[in-house]
Amino acid sequence: KEVKAFAPATVANVACGFDILGFAVDSPGDEIEMKLVDKPGIVIKDITGDEGRLSRDPRDNTATVSVYQFLERIGAEKAGIEVVLHKKMPFGSGLGSSSASTVAGAFAVNALFDNPLTTEELLPFAMEGERVACGAAHADNVAPALYGGFVLVRSYDPLDVVRLNVPEELCCAVVHPHIEVSTKDARNILRGEIPLVDAVRQWGNVGGLIAGLEQENYDLIGRSLQDVIVEPIRSMLIPGFDEVKRAAIYAGSMGTAISGSGPSVFSLCRGMDKAERIAKAKVEAFKSIGIESDMFVS
Ligand code: HSE
Repeated sequence: KEVKAFAPATVANVACGFDILGFAVDSPGDEIEMKLVDKPGIVIKDITGDEGRLSRDPRDNTATVSVYQFLERIGAEKAGIEVVLHKKMPFGSGLGSSSASTVAGAFAVNALFDNPLTTEELLPFAMEGERVACGAAHADNVAPALYGGFVLVRSYDPLDVVRLNVPEELCCAVVHPHIEVSTKDARNILRGEIPLVDAVRQWGNVGGLIAGLEQENYDLIGRSLQDVIVEPIRSMLIPGFDEVKRAAIYAGSMGTAISGSGPSVFSLCRGMDKAERIAKAKVEAFKSIGIESDMFVS
């Protein structure tokens, strides 16, 4: 038996929701092929598109590390699986590259065994891959990559993930400048404590964003896309961030912020035409300071 799976890029944090909010985009994404074979054990047969950067050791690769736990859970430790990973996403981009691989892996192995686990039950396995990738099992990339749409991680312990409404006309323009930011580093520079006054502003925005999504109130969504805690620190890792944000707002974005741990910058807006315009404006803004970038609209 043989299966193929795709898992999409994701925008984590969504401005105000550090580690608790994320949404999936249409593209890019990673693809994985898995095949049941007679010889027990997991073998990574090939990885394309990674320029040799990913480990071929299945216990050390984000796409396969959780497969061991999955096999243990379903009592199939002796299974033989061959894996081919097609890495189609840039590394250190803030687009949930490691999550896409790990979710594709978890989804594929579940399908290979005729889906013994529900999508919800797969989430902890996918989070394990994230722990290998960046040292923290945050779920704001893996959960939306697995479920699709917009997701809130209400609690990590116990894990409580809530799917949110996605208003019909809500579109996203993400631009990925060709610089690399490691999630580990981008997490290490954050302060461990925040002033209460900042927390009040941030949770006001989180509530506003969720209410805006549920009520399909685009103005409220726009007003709530603010991050007073993480962005002031992480934006220093993204050359031209303020100019790019200004260009996006000028082009009609309802809100613009760092995608995940950066350096990609996402904007939300109403309608695909506007998303195209905003993405192009951001590409131009990066170009004006000598940085090439790719754009994705969903
Ligand atoms: N919430 C995570 C972070 C996402 O901001 O570190 C990483 O893509």
